[in-house]
Amino acid sequence: DLLLFTVLFLLIADYLKTRRPSSFPPGPWALPFVGNIFTVDFNRAHEALTQLAETYGDVYSLRMGQTWMVVLNGFQMLKEALVTQGDSLADRPVLPLQMDMFHNLGLISSNGHLWKQQRRFALSTLKYFGVGRKSLEHAILDEFTYSGKNISDLKGKPFNPHVIINNAVSNIICSLVFGHRFEYEDERFIKLIKRFDSLYNAFPLLMRCLPGPHQTVQQFWSEVKDMIRSEIEEHKKDWNPAEPRDYIDCYLTEIQMKKGDAESTFSEENLVMCTLDLFVAGSETTSTTLRWAFLYMAKYPEIQEKVQAEIDRVIGHSRQPSMMDRANLPYTDAVIHEIQRMGNIVPLSLHHSTNRDIQLGDYTIPKGVVIIPNLTSVLFDKREWETPYTFNPEHFLNEEGKFVKRAAFIPFSAGKRVCLGENLARMEIFLFFTSFMQRFTFSMPAGTKPVLDYCFGVTLAPAPYEICATLRQE
Ligand code: HEM
Repeated sequence: DLLLFTVLFLLIADYLKTRRPSSFPPGPWALPFVGNIFTVDFNRAHEALTQLAETYGDVYSLRMGQTWMVVLNGFQMLKEALVTQGDSLADRPVLPLQMDMFHNLGLISSNGHLWKQQRRFALSTLKYFGVGRKSLEHAILDEFTYSGKNISDLKGKPFNPHVIINNAVSNIICSLVFGHRFEYEDERFIKLIKRFDSLYNAFPLLMRCLPGPHQTVQQFWSEVKDMIRSEIEEHKKDWNPAEPRDYIDCYLTEIQMKKGDAESTFSEENLVMCTLDLFVAGSETTSTTLRWAFLYMAKYPEIQEKVQAEIDRVIGHSRQPSMMDRANLPYTDAVIHEIQRMGNIVPLSLHHSTNRDIQLGDYTIPKGVVIIPNLTSVLFDKREWETPYTFNPEHFLNEEGKFVKRAAFIPFSAGKRVCLGENLARMEIFLFFTSFMQRFTFSMPAGTKPVLDYCFGVTLAPAPYEICATLRQE
């Protein structure tokens, strides 16, 4: 009897705790206590969530344990939610475990005044140090020279591009934040990259807003934080506010200037967290996109040839590409966009949360509900793309072969929380991709075929593969 009573009591408590208004979005039937945990295959969560929209519509709900989540699907719905009603959805969910670790610091998980102040500062500093300027362009092209040399040294032998590309992309963040790049053999650099790799494996970016394997992450986290702290100490030795060299220098000045300002959220602890976030969000993402790019080029050699022909015609071989070339490379630009669309590397964006009751379509979503903007459902939306599941650069070209923007191209999400590094990422992807295409032809090792399998980790990345890069011209 006691057992029956306890079960009944728990069931009623669960029901009362997870009750929702009648106008709440519908969803698949949720089991008591665990909710819809077994409804979704987490290894292909983006596909499962997109499929559920066929049954439940563009706004539906899921329950994970006792937490309600609302999944938003399709271009029109995401636009309405993230842009039109963007203020109401600008927050990240606050979960007790995350509060322990991030304390509402940094750029990715923070909220409110602190997030606004830090985001504004990071955006203006990135701009100052060259997004769209020659200095950053040089840093990227310089980095290509190093990674290109590593690849040409392989003389066309099969290799896994992960490490080489990760090194190159991470060094761009190092240049912006620390003011210098590292040699790939530098022990400190190798350790930094390894630690980030372990962090990603232990705690995917996609799960950043959900409870994660806490202990392991704490340990890696504190090691990386120590490395960043020692960079900050180095900076302080010859820091000259009149001549800022990088993000850290600018941040130190901001701390100094805002001393005594009760509204200031600038502190060394926050500097460490923001730096961490720039690495976490800015390395693996761009690197994954480039790894998809190589694979797609090996899979579609005729498209690769067209890209190379356009680059040969517009840039030639006597100079490196520049951002100025983009307008004259419509086909290449379209291919890059299609790689990003099909690559779909942050398929469910990052979680948002409602900071007030909102109305979406016929439904009311109360304050404090976790929102999942399903970017997959937009990048493959049948209502927006002519051939959603086919690699087709024509999606971004008009009849005269000119590049056309598509509103439903939102791999960086949209609205208040839109990727802070979008311009930087676009610049890196364009310059790295055109440089690689100018110099190399990518193909699969003899006897193998390109497989577009993915693994769901920090990003939706291609399953590890080996590829051959043959030099086009000595
Ligand atoms: C957030 C995509 C590269 C920094 C995001 C979000 C997406 C995204 C989907 C979540 C937006 C949302 O919550 O609605 C990408 C893709 C990239 C890329 C596809 C490359 C191809 C970068 C780079 C940086 C960066 C290079 C480095 C500066 C950030 C930060 C956030 C963010 C700091 C959090 C913004 C906030 O919460 O206010 N990114 N990203 N990203 N990204 Fe990126």
